[in-house]
Amino acid sequence: MHDKTGQTTRDGIRIYGSADFDGMRAAGKVAAEILDEVATLVKPGATTAMLDDFIREDIARRGVVSATIGYKGYRHASCISVNHVVCHGIPGPKVLTDGDILNIDVTVIVDGWFGDTSRMYVAGSLGRKAARLIDVTHEGLMRGIAAVKPGNTFGDIGHAIQTYVEANKMSVVRDFCGHGLGRVFHAPPNVLHYGRPGGGPVLEEGMFFTIEPMVNLGRPETKVLADDWTAVTRDKSLSAQFEHSVGVTATGCEIFTLSPAGKFHPTWG
Ligand code: MF3
Ligand code: CO
Ligand code: CO
Repeated sequence: MHDKTGQTTRDGIRIYGSADFDGMRAAGKVAAEILDEVATLVKPGATTAMLDDFIREDIARRGVVSATIGYKGYRHASCISVNHVVCHGIPGPKVLTDGDILNIDVTVIVDGWFGDTSRMYVAGSLGRKAARLIDVTHEGLMRGIAAVKPGNTFGDIGHAIQTYVEANKMSVVRDFCGHGLGRVFHAPPNVLHYGRPGGGPVLEEGMFFTIEPMVNLGRPETKVLADDWTAVTRDKSLSAQFEHSVGVTATGCEIFTLSPAGKFHPTWG
């Protein structure tokens, strides 16, 4: 099937070719390197605005482009979501204190290709419950990624994440999802982090998308604050998220946003 621009699509999802993997590899690597570098600044006393300033300057130094500055009126180079903030936290004067956990989400455009990744950080010492939440969220993402191969479905990805998270007595956020990406930031399909085996579109070689589960210690419901961006847990429970950009290969999947420094999880590196 072809769309009106002549691109090959399946179920409205664009199919990319092998040269396109090179573009995504380069964009994903830059995004992951930025997340590696900002890690040294995450500590009690830092503000989320300081972290975002570093990211903005790092993007400029590298001669690449932020995908979030100017996106739907958003004005920052990252989203920084602390403790019970689920996603889309706006960097600002908030001072980090010991034991805070935070997700930093960066999307860059490199030669027209979008690299989108986020991971968890800790300011100071990591509490027991927060550590469990972070471990389960990370493992949920990796189980979702393990389900990516031609012939499986998007429902298989969601099911793998949901069953693991719920077996650990935590909940998967329903109100936000992953997305196709490539030469655009957000494209079909919606990548749900819950689902039924065999449900949803069939995965094919050449599909590019993110998997970015948000997991709450308490209930899954969220609400968006009056700033129209910040999403928080309704029950104020802690929330965590990890995000990779991936491409479907002939035999499985390639992760474009692996951490070159091996620091994707806050207790690594
Ligand atoms: N990077 C986010 C995602 O994973 C989107 C952020 S959009 C912004 O899809 F405008 F809030 F930055
Ligand atoms: Co994303
Ligand atoms: Co993101």
